Amino acid sequence: MATWVVTGANRGIGLEFAKQLLAEGHSVIAGVRSPESMKFSHEKMSIFQLDVSSTSSVYEFAENVKSMSQSIDILVNNAGRMDGRWQSLEDVDPEISLDVLNVNTIGPLRVSQVLWPLLQASNQGKIANISSLMGSIDDCMSGRSYAYRTSKTGLNMITKILAVEGKDQNITVTAYHPGWAKTDMGGERAPVPVSVSVKGLIGLINKQDIDQSGRFFEYTGDELPW
Ligand SMILES: NC(=O)c1ccc[n+]([C@@H]2O[C@H](COP(=O)([O-])OP(=O)(O)OC[C@H]3O[C@@H](n4cnc5c(N)ncnc54)[C@H](OP(=O)(O)O)[C@@H]3O)[C@@H](O)[C@H]2O)c1
Repeated sequence: MATWVVTGANRGIGLEFAKQLLAEGHSVIAGVRSPESMKFSHEKMSIFQLDVSSTSSVYEFAENVKSMSQSIDILVNNAGRMDGRWQSLEDVDPEISLDVLNVNTIGPLRVSQVLWPLLQASNQGKIANISSLMGSIDDCMSGRSYAYRTSKTGLNMITKILAVEGKDQNITVTAYHPGWAKTDMGGERAPVPVSVSVKGLIGLINKQDIDQSGRFFEYTGDELPW
């Protein structure tokens, strides 16, 4: 059984990760912005405050993780935010855009940086970056959503760079698209139940090795273009 760290684990895809992993017998360290918002508890889950957009919060989170375990096996960089719904050029708010980039792109980089030594200690550490097809430049047919798309494209590049960094250190790093999943972000019309999306993602992450490192996959296992 492995030790997983999941960011944004209080709702949506992150909470579903925690529930399915605990049901399989894994240990989960949950990073949540407001621990009091966590309505779910389990004897094998620890919950610590984490705002991925704040460097001091990320440092404090790392200290808390180290107090629980000297190594972690898998980091799921899941926490993320939208920039509104299909923002057109005239809708773009530069300040909101900067926060979207901070949360979705620099957030996973911050968390990966501070937990990297613990992933090294695992000897087969894995990072799963929850990206989006909206970050795919090849797939950008409908335009709009400037900040959100760009933030996920940036996360995809960080995935590739970290994969190169991890190659000689037994750390694999892969980007995943969870599908259009029914969560607060995905909305009611989303066709993919969150349980199906996360089941697919966990199966892929369990099999994630050096061959998949630095690549981009959908929850179904299909590879996606950058
Ligand atoms: N649902 C989809 O269709 C879909 C499609 C493609 C990609 N994704 C990606 O999947 C991931 C999870 O999305 P979701 O659908 O589960 O969204 P969600 O239901 O809106 O949940 C977002 C989660 O991220 C957390 N979060 C936001 N900003 C944070 C910050 N600064 N620090 C720490 N946590 C923060 C939220 O915490 P609070 O409760 O405190 O706000 C919440 O736990 C995101 O990265 C998203 O971009 C989702």
